[in-house]
Amino acid sequence: MLAMNKFKILGATVITIAASVVITSCGHDKRSTGWEYAPNMYEHIAYDPDQKNPNFKDGKTAQLPPAGTTPVGFVRFDYPNTKVGYEAASLEVKSPLTAADTAGAQVLFVHYCSPCHGTKGQGDGLVVQHGYPAPPSYSKGQSSRGGAMKDLTDGKIYHTITYGLNAMGSYASQLNPQERWKVVMYIHHLQTL
Ligand code: HEC
Repeated sequence: MLAMNKFKILGATVITIAASVVITSCGHDKRSTGWEYAPNMYEHIAYDPDQKNPNFKDGKTAQLPPAGTTPVGFVRFDYPNTKVGYEAASLEVKSPLTAADTAGAQVLFVHYCSPCHGTKGQGDGLVVQHGYPAPPSYSKGQSSRGGAMKDLTDGKIYHTITYGLNAMGSYASQLNPQERWKVVMYIHHLQTL
């Protein structure tokens, strides 16, 4: 009986000490992170992108790449966002993909384009049904830049995805070049519907 009580007292003491450590360890300084385990994970030597940096003239860590450089593996698209650029891309730019490379093209189109263009490319997507200006059908419509939508070339479609057109925004930051080409191939399919 006595031994049992000793254990109870010991247990209660341990719990009291533990509880008071937990309660008192916070509250002194609200901005303190408390004990840090392996603090060099937080306080590293390398500069964070948003930190000041005396190594560069403008004092910033995040630097733009030098003008005229191309990241490894990036394919340039040097056609300006003008009608002239659009027509030049139409003549000179061809899709580098073959039909075998188009896995996932439909998913990309459904996610990024069908809200306006509709899953079959007829210009009747969900947001259009709620009043957004309707794009022309890929198979039956006319492009506002001239010609039938079904005749839009690789280069014209790629140019449109890259820069957008009027009520349609640019998708350059959502779709990388490879993904844009997949979507282009999928639109060629929708042009035949
Ligand atoms: C917010 C709605 C919206 C979304 C999303 C959208 N578009 Fe469009 N798109 C339009 C509208 C509106 C037009 C007609 C613009 C005009 O001619 O003024 C258009 C036109 C086009 C054209 C015809 C361009 C031409 O030269 O006439 C193509 C090609 C096209 N879109 C491709 C795409 C692709 C590919 C995606 C997805 C990556 C996409 N669009 C996403 C609204 C959208």
